[in-house]
Amino acid sequence: MRMRTMLLTVAVPTLLAAGAYTALQAQSPSVTPIGSAAVNADRLISAASEPGSWFAVGGSYHEQRYSLLEHINETNVQQLGLAWYADIDTERGQEATPVVVDGVMYVTTAWSMVKAYDIRSGQLLWEYDPDVAKGKAVDACCDVVNRGLAVWNGKVYLGALDGRLIALNGRTGTEVWSVQTTEASLPYTITGAPRIIKGRVIIGNGGAEYRVRGYVTAYDAELGKQVWRWWTVPGDPSKPYEQPELERAAKTWRGDVYWKIGGGGTVWDGMAYDPELDTLYVGTGNGNPWNQAIRSPGGGDNLFLASIVALDPTTGKYKWHYQTTPGETWDYTATQPIMVADLVYPRGKRRVVMQAPKNGFFYVLDARTGQLLSAEKFAPLTWATHVDLKSGRPVEVDEARYEVTQRPVIVAPGALGMHNWHPMAFSLKTGLVYVPVHVNNASYASPTEFKLNLEGTNTGVSFAGGAALYDRPGAPTKGNVESYILAWDPVNAKEAWRIKNEIYGASGILATAGNLIFSGNHNGEFSAFRATTGEKLWSAPVQARVVAGAATFAAEGQQHVAILVGGRGLPNTATRTNPASANNSRLLVFKLGGSATLPTAMSTTSAGAPRVKIDPPLLTASNETVFAGEQAFAANCAVCHGPAAVPGAGSVGPDLRYSGLLPIRNGWNPTVRDGDRAQRGMPGFSNTLSQDTIDAILAYVIKRANDEKAAQDDAARQK
Ligand code: HEC
Repeated sequence: MRMRTMLLTVAVPTLLAAGAYTALQAQSPSVTPIGSAAVNADRLISAASEPGSWFAVGGSYHEQRYSLLEHINETNVQQLGLAWYADIDTERGQEATPVVVDGVMYVTTAWSMVKAYDIRSGQLLWEYDPDVAKGKAVDACCDVVNRGLAVWNGKVYLGALDGRLIALNGRTGTEVWSVQTTEASLPYTITGAPRIIKGRVIIGNGGAEYRVRGYVTAYDAELGKQVWRWWTVPGDPSKPYEQPELERAAKTWRGDVYWKIGGGGTVWDGMAYDPELDTLYVGTGNGNPWNQAIRSPGGGDNLFLASIVALDPTTGKYKWHYQTTPGETWDYTATQPIMVADLVYPRGKRRVVMQAPKNGFFYVLDARTGQLLSAEKFAPLTWATHVDLKSGRPVEVDEARYEVTQRPVIVAPGALGMHNWHPMAFSLKTGLVYVPVHVNNASYASPTEFKLNLEGTNTGVSFAGGAALYDRPGAPTKGNVESYILAWDPVNAKEAWRIKNEIYGASGILATAGNLIFSGNHNGEFSAFRATTGEKLWSAPVQARVVAGAATFAAEGQQHVAILVGGRGLPNTATRTNPASANNSRLLVFKLGGSATLPTAMSTTSAGAPRVKIDPPLLTASNETVFAGEQAFAANCAVCHGPAAVPGAGSVGPDLRYSGLLPIRNGWNPTVRDGDRAQRGMPGFSNTLSQDTIDAILAYVIKRANDEKAAQDDAARQK
């Protein structure tokens, strides 16, 4: 475990109230010393009385991602400027929302690392790296990301990619306890944030299409001891059911493939808690394999896949469930963000839970009973015509079931869903839910032959099988179609308006009482929009793709907005300026009148540049390939990127050993083969080098990066 700590010794009053929201601040509880991370049930339940804090990734238990702060509002948001920023030392995706409490901002980054900052200055107080073995990346479908942590009673809790749940001292970042929440030999991963209810840390995991069985577990927050575990799908039928409702669930499954490879249904992201009803809501994932004819030959609903499940947080006892996609076969998870809210219908107020899962329907359920109140399309899906409100079941389009018809078909959405993990927000001011939507489709076909893959993924879908469908007249645009921020009226179950993104891709959303919503995009901007109309009021270039959701808080009497930026590769509008990260991963904090600026150039592409961390993928290529790559690199690349891939004083190109493109062949090819960055001085090599040679060069650079990492690790050990 590597760690750096700078202790804050003075206890200072947290939030000095001033200006517009004195009244709000005045209600905050007694002064807590900086860094005390003194979160408890009372503070979480009455989070609304302390809007200067951002207590949990979703803002509070209800996970509405709505702040009562209105110091920054539609009349002055144009004056928003950068207060401070911090470079992040990894170039994988940054998906976390910061948590802010008692003067400290805690954030997780890729590779499950944690950083704690003084919210006034941005000074790094401590950092923690759980040292996840880099080989674990092969079990993560969608990069080595982490979506955030939880704070409780002086401690900070995170789920590490390798399945550990770790409690840290909130003041120092030192480990208090750590527990392996998964069978380490199985391809489980954790990327989601823990939630803490009544002294229990609730944590799920991912890996459904590998070979795992989904569950969610509660641990005692002080001791790290398991309190309960709730399995989402039935297991080995020769063994007793772990929970009574699994007996009923088992009747909705057929055959014996599913339990041998786990069945899926992992709880990898969305959860919410209603303190009034004392109910925890969790979302469950897709089936394993996706193809239902293989997973459960002959069909069945396959409970509790793709469901919202209500549990008692004290005991883990099942209360009710609602299954969004019975017998799912397209990777339609219901793990997307869940929120609890009061909706005012003409006939009165209802306590509801809301979700916009992958399948493209926006669901409103009664929070007490799970009764379906509405389910309307929020995007142009094609797998079902509608949801029957009486039965609560979708009315499917027969052709969409490729595994039943045995005919390939294009279905919308594809496996990425119409909405994924990107946080949505609910404004108490406008009554609208803001959803980051990405419209896409995919062709699905049953494979001619299915062989269980015990190493990698098991989708049971042949993607090539239906590819020719896109050549037919009238076929839709293939793959990613468009993306937008959707303002959804949940009471009337219909769209209010939308803001279309110029560049395809989703980014999380924050709503505030200042009649604002904040969101980033894949074009390198972070923006504020009027929450009532969607009019763009403010925007700042952030030099990176933004996928995460923002948080807002108060420091020294002023509202601030914080956003973690950095996604796969740089936006077309940006060049690299963070020496520690090829995709300019950063934590950015804005306030009215903020005057800090981001660097516009990086003077550190040459040898000896200060690099914080090198993060290469494992080398899997043969010696022969690496050798061929070495020859080709020397002949074609060394002139600009330096001999042996180490840039010298005269090198114009960046140090490729640190490139975020190394793990992503799909990112390497557009740059190196297709010449996507030719106008920036990086020529394409499609005319001169074969794909094999380009792959061999990649293998060689990965080798050189691992050499450098080994050298740095050695040096660090000798210190
Ligand atoms: C004529 C000089 C030149 C040559 C030759 C050259 N590069 Fe580059 N390369 C650059 C420059 C300049 C950039 C930075 C472009 C930018 O700002 O995006 C770059 C960027 C890259 C990047 C993107 C790195 C990142 O993380 O963003 C990769 C990958 C790359 N080069 C690979 C190669 C390979 C492989 C070869 C040999 C086959 C090669 N380059 C040959 C100049 C060159």
